[in-house]
Order: sequence, then C-alpha cells, then structure tokens
Amino acid sequence: MNKTIYLEDTPKKKFIRQMFDDISQNYDLLNRVISFGLDGFCRKKTIVPHEQDSVALDICSGSGDMSIELLNRDNFNGIIILGDFSFKMHRLARQKLGGRKNVYYVCCDAENLPFKDSSFDGIINGYSLRNLDDLRAFGSEIHRILKPGGHSSIVEVAHPPNKIIAWVFYLYFYKLIPIISRLFTKKKYAYHYLPFSLSTFLKQAEVIKSLKGERLEGHYEGILLGAVAVYRLRK
Ligand SMILES: C[S@@+](CC[C@H](N)C(=O)[O-])C[C@H]1O[C@@H](n2cnc3c(N)ncnc32)[C@H](O)[C@@H]1O
Repeated sequence: MNKTIYLEDTPKKKFIRQMFDDISQNYDLLNRVISFGLDGFCRKKTIVPHEQDSVALDICSGSGDMSIELLNRDNFNGIIILGDFSFKMHRLARQKLGGRKNVYYVCCDAENLPFKDSSFDGIINGYSLRNLDDLRAFGSEIHRILKPGGHSSIVEVAHPPNKIIAWVFYLYFYKLIPIISRLFTKKKYAYHYLPFSLSTFLKQAEVIKSLKGERLEGHYEGILLGAVAVYRLRK
C-alpha cells in the first residue's frame, strides 16, 4: 500500500512537541530523579524480547534511552530507527548515541508513520502513550508496519490495581512530582501537564484493547506494584 505522509498537527500534538522541545535539556535528569532511577529498570525489562530483531523501530524515541538499552544487549545485531517529532529530543538522542552505524533517525508522527507495510521485526516505545491523541490509530500503524509475526513492547506509567498503593502513588505523582519538576524546568505548563497526563489516561485493560484492536494479539503485565505497565503486542 502506498501512503501519503504528512505531519498534521492537532492542538495536542503541537502542545506536546513544543513541551518536549522546551524540556529536552533537563528531560533525562528529571526522569531519573522522579522515578528514583527505576525508569531504566523498566525499559530494560521491556526490550528483552527484542534482542533478536533485525530491524527495530523505537517510536517516540525521545532522548534515545529505549534504543540505548536495546543496543546494550549482547545479542542485538540489528538496526534501529528512532522516530520522534520533537527536533530537540532527536538532537539529544544523536548526541547520546554518537556515531553508531546501525542507528537512523526519522522525524515522524507515531499515528501516521512514514514506513512501508510489514517492514519491522519489532517496535519499542517508552513512556509515550499518554502523549498520543489516538491509541487506536497508533495500534493500527503498529499492525501495518510490523512484519507478520513481528512484535511490539511498550512501557508506560499506569494505574496501580491495589487501592492503597494507588492512593500513595497518585499522591506522589499528582502532588509531589509537580513540586520536584519545578526545580528542573522553568516551564510551568510542563509540570502541570504531567499529573494531567496520567489522571486522564486510560486504565491498562482499556489501553491494551485500544492498541490491539481486532488484528493484533496482546496482553499486559504490571511492574513496580502496577505503577508501570508493559504492553506486548504481536501481529
Ligand atoms: C516521555 S518522552 C519518552 C522518550 C523515550 N521513549 C524514553 O523512554 O524516555 C515522549 C517522547 O514522545 C514524543 N512524541 C509524543 N507524541 C508523539 C507523536 N505523536 N509522534 C512522534 N513522537 C511523539 C515526544 O516528542 C517525546 O520525545
């Protein structure tokens, strides 16, 4: 199928791109601090099944940390394409990944990808679902560009199923994180967005349902007491 690709900005996309451009310089440090360094542990767990991928896409790649985890696996010999629509996050990823030969960068929208049908063995995605406009559109793009048998692993902050744990986690995420974030960025709107992005985000069962649609197989597993979820999809 031939596809006409265009970067069509919805108000949300414009906002998200601007925000990540604005916070790019402090993004990594802020991530490490607010997650107590556990963001890396969750990425590591997420990318394990992708070691054997020959062609992988890291979509919404940001500063490149999902790709770095995959490239660090001893058995990974494939190529990775990093796709993101924030120019400044891409630039950061380039700086961190240096001159790696098996790495390419594409400026693109996750919901309207500029890749041919059935071109990837694997797709990885870290902490970005909350930023998307339409999880069904994203799931349908995953289905389109994966090879038959190809798979996708996605890690995202989630809603803990245990009520007490959820209460503690929300207290931290909604009340404390915005205060901590203020120390790292002067962009007020960015630290207001963070709690909003989770409070309005779907529960895990609805996320997997939207992503897999009728055509993908999928399940999810909770980690860190359910505060983070890993979604696994297969075509
Ligand atoms: C929270 S960061 C995650 C970065 C990285 N994956 C990680 O694990 O740290 C979200 C990234 O997704 C990108 N992004 C958000 N919506 C996007 C979209 N529709 N298309 C492409 N990139 C998008 C942002 O520019 C940002 O770099």
